[in-house]
Amino acid sequence: MTQSGRGSSGPSRKRLPIRQRRQLLLLLLAVVLIVVAAVIGILVAMDRRQSETQEPISTTLSEQEGQLSTPSSTEGISEPESTSSEPTSSEPTSSKPSGGQVGNYPTQDWNLILINKQNLLPEDYTVDLVTVSGGQRVDARIVEPLTDMLNAARQAGYSGVYVMSGYRTPALSQALIDKEVQIRVNQGMDEQAAYEEVIQAIAPPYTSEHNAGIAVDIYAPSYSVYGFSPALENQADYSWFKEHCAEYGFILRYPKDKVAVTQYQFEPWHFRYVGQEAAQAIMSQGICLEEYLGQA
Ligand code: DAL
Ligand code: ZN
Repeated sequence: MTQSGRGSSGPSRKRLPIRQRRQLLLLLLAVVLIVVAAVIGILVAMDRRQSETQEPISTTLSEQEGQLSTPSSTEGISEPESTSSEPTSSEPTSSKPSGGQVGNYPTQDWNLILINKQNLLPEDYTVDLVTVSGGQRVDARIVEPLTDMLNAARQAGYSGVYVMSGYRTPALSQALIDKEVQIRVNQGMDEQAAYEEVIQAIAPPYTSEHNAGIAVDIYAPSYSVYGFSPALENQADYSWFKEHCAEYGFILRYPKDKVAVTQYQFEPWHFRYVGQEAAQAIMSQGICLEEYLGQA
């Protein structure tokens, strides 16, 4: 066997016997298989984690809402009865809170309905709901653009995206608020102060776009790191939605610089359907829905 040829034409490799080369090859193959198995294992675990988050979730408000610091968040809680894939008629179940006006912004366009603390959803508002992937229900009329937007995000590389929270009954909105208020009261906070804090993040019954099924909270992979926090703004997956939502008729409903107008905290995860024309105008001008409708 040739030894290394130092001093002649540079170092020459010592060839291993065929048996050792085979063993080496097998070893390499085993390492590759272990790496592949580990990658598959990680992917399966991530997938399982994602499907777990589709169940009712209770994270912390500081995780979820950024400015709210005490425990237990409710934004992502799923509607427990959201199982049918057939359109169903929603039935608001809780009584309307006092204050505000019912639908004082007149529009014939269902997609431009203004729902906020001053413009309550009519008590008799009905909506055909359809279940979308992830198990949440939304207004049947937004299923197609919503699905297109989610598919486009997946094609852009954000494969884990889905609707974390869609339609909520007014009763559910109230329950979410009650729970958060109670947590704060238990910690010694004044009830009214607790309520005022909570309703910056969770809209009271009939003032939530979730009650109409035309808004969605999007899960994208960064959520598993940051929760529902303002930090999502700077993550590529949520940035994708901000950049492309208008193409599908959606807007970032609660922008960071419009808190004084919307009266809700900055929510980089909450997207509202308004139709393409309005969405393009709103997103390109950096305004909010109230401003677009002349109701700021
Ligand atoms: N988080 C928004 C404001 C809602 O509860 O509808
Ligand atoms: Zn939302």
